[in-house]
Amino acid sequence: MLELENITYQPQTGRKKVLDNINLKINENEIILICGNSGSGKTTLLEVISGLTNPQRGRIIWKNQIINSRKRRWLCGMVFQFPERFFLGATIGKELKFGYKSIKDIRIRNVLKKVGLSTINLTAPPDKLSGGQQRRLAVAVQLLRNPNIILLDEPTAGLDWSMKNDVKELILGLSSENSIIVVTHEPELFQDLTSKKFLLTEGKLEILGG
Ligand SMILES: Nc1ncnc2c1ncn2[C@@H]1O[C@H](COP(=O)(O)OP(=O)(O)O)[C@@H](O)[C@H]1O
Ligand SMILES: [Mg+2]
Repeated sequence: MLELENITYQPQTGRKKVLDNINLKINENEIILICGNSGSGKTTLLEVISGLTNPQRGRIIWKNQIINSRKRRWLCGMVFQFPERFFLGATIGKELKFGYKSIKDIRIRNVLKKVGLSTINLTAPPDKLSGGQQRRLAVAVQLLRNPNIILLDEPTAGLDWSMKNDVKELILGLSSENSIIVVTHEPELFQDLTSKKFLLTEGKLEILGG
């Protein structure tokens, strides 16, 4: 279980707290939905959880131990908003192997299966994939790192309607093996995905009923 305790974060360049005394628990294989308007602090919250930045106050606890940002980077697989913009590989295969000296093909095949891309051509460039498939590829890249928690920042942003449902199915599939935090400004899309919903408003997190 991951626990955030009294997390407060104010960027060095900012005059206001972006995260204000946040408390949150996430259990294994649980999906958590965090919604909030643009600028409410959603991406910042994911950056803190995933160890890309450190809060000024508060503790982050994993399995009863306080964990630093380095450990959080290991634990979390962060899929940024519009991840396809950051693909570096000339081919899908190279994108998946990026950063590894050697990686077994079977591992790659396994993660591709998990994200529903078993039949894609690894020698094609990533931009030949559909929008929904590109999001799946970005998730596959993170799964190769074996994260415990997957963080998805606005996973449906910029996709057309049919693709949005595709992403929802992907998230459901992932939850059999991972904890997942989904951040979105379109919560109605994820209504039936989880009962654990939160609203972030100006850095404060509240539970949403129902
Ligand atoms: N490094 C930073 N320096 C100054 N302000 C920041 C920084 N990062 C985020 N902010 C501010 O924090 C607020 C929340 O941003 P963000 O987490 O991106 O919100 P969201 O993802 O919900 O749209 C915004 O007002 C943004 O301008
Ligand atoms: Mg954001």
